[in-house]
Amino acid sequence: MKASVTTGLGQGFVLEEIDLADPIGHEVRIEVKASGLCHSDLSVATFIGGAFPVVLGHEVAGVVTAVGPQVTQVKVGDHVVGSLIQYCGACVNCLAGRSYICLHPSATERATGSRLSWNGEPVAQGMGLAGFAQEALIHENQLAVVPDEMPWAPAALIGCGVLTGAGAVLNSANVRQGDTVVVIGAGGVGLNAISGARLAGAGTIIATDIEDAKLDRAKAFGATHVINSRTIDPVEAVRDLTGTGADHVFDFVGVRPVTAQGGQMLGKGGGLYLIGVGAMDAGIEVSALVALSNSQKVQGVYMGSSELKRDIPFYASMYLQGRMNLDDLITKEIGLADINAGYDSLKDSSTARVVITDLS
Ligand SMILES: NC(=O)c1ccc[n+]([C@@H]2O[C@H](COP(=O)([O-])OP(=O)(O)OC[C@H]3O[C@@H](n4cnc5c(N)ncnc54)[C@H](O)[C@@H]3O)[C@@H](O)[C@H]2O)c1
Ligand SMILES: [Zn+2]
Ligand SMILES: [Zn+2]
Repeated sequence: MKASVTTGLGQGFVLEEIDLADPIGHEVRIEVKASGLCHSDLSVATFIGGAFPVVLGHEVAGVVTAVGPQVTQVKVGDHVVGSLIQYCGACVNCLAGRSYICLHPSATERATGSRLSWNGEPVAQGMGLAGFAQEALIHENQLAVVPDEMPWAPAALIGCGVLTGAGAVLNSANVRQGDTVVVIGAGGVGLNAISGARLAGAGTIIATDIEDAKLDRAKAFGATHVINSRTIDPVEAVRDLTGTGADHVFDFVGVRPVTAQGGQMLGKGGGLYLIGVGAMDAGIEVSALVALSNSQKVQGVYMGSSELKRDIPFYASMYLQGRMNLDDLITKEIGLADINAGYDSLKDSSTARVVITDLS
């Protein structure tokens, strides 16, 4: 089958013929129908690194074509969406309903070696998924079934950008009706936080960004107010709009000065949620005195604190009911051979997300 292989840092994505093993144990083979271009894969391919050669791609949707003998949760013909959340299902965190912080995530990997090979040599499988390929072999724990009528491109985006953005609001912060929410960075993930805030019934949804085109899109997704932080001090603007500061601030940018501004936007009892990692030293200094006297908190958020088997079908149903906008996240559909150009086009502020839908 054809797959887009990354052979090393800065080597980009190159279409190659590689081999996929037959499913064993809990493995599920899928024919890939759509695969989203998330920034994190580009980061792995350009500066984070890891095992090479590798097939990346972790926003993947497809149809099940074969299952291993121990698979019980999906069957041939099911439409499925993958997630990079790897969980064992048996540790104390999994049993407590927090599979996103499973203590044994490697339980979903193949003990006998890689599922992919290239000229007989093993190829790493990005995040247990490897969706930049015509087919993928994935542990059943990393797959959720969605209705057949769910279109492929928006389905793929649910696996990372939607789980992360909407999940941060609905699961991690547990935003309630009437709350005041600030979304810093209205990109592919932040827009889903705006959608999540609408679902939660937030009273005020403020989006900040440095690009007007992103802010226009944020308004279309349901932001009640937008702030261009290039031209307006976002802390003052949020304080003016809210009077007392925000209940929840979500940082999808992750650079120190921006995160610090996020902290200054909080009202009494407010929470700052760290999601974006825009620089290796991303983080914040917290004054214990300010935090304790205002009962404020700072929380890191991994994958929107999502339970993928519950949340992926939930967002699919919200989309199918017309209650969640996923279509306008997709600016462009491309072929499997065009991933490098696809990532280039994400630099343009008029582009939200790019999805591979031509896998011929
Ligand atoms: N925590 C997790 O589990 C998790 C999961 C997925 C993605 N992420 C991270 O979330 C972040 C957002 O991802 P994305 O795909 O939406 O990226 P994106 O590039 O589409 O969006 C980032 C947005 O931030 C804006 N921005 C840049 N600098 C800004 C500033 N100073 N002030 C305000 N806005 C600014 C950009 O214009 C852009 O619209 C990335 O860092 C990504 O790696 C985290
Ligand atoms: Zn992602
Ligand atoms: Zn576990």
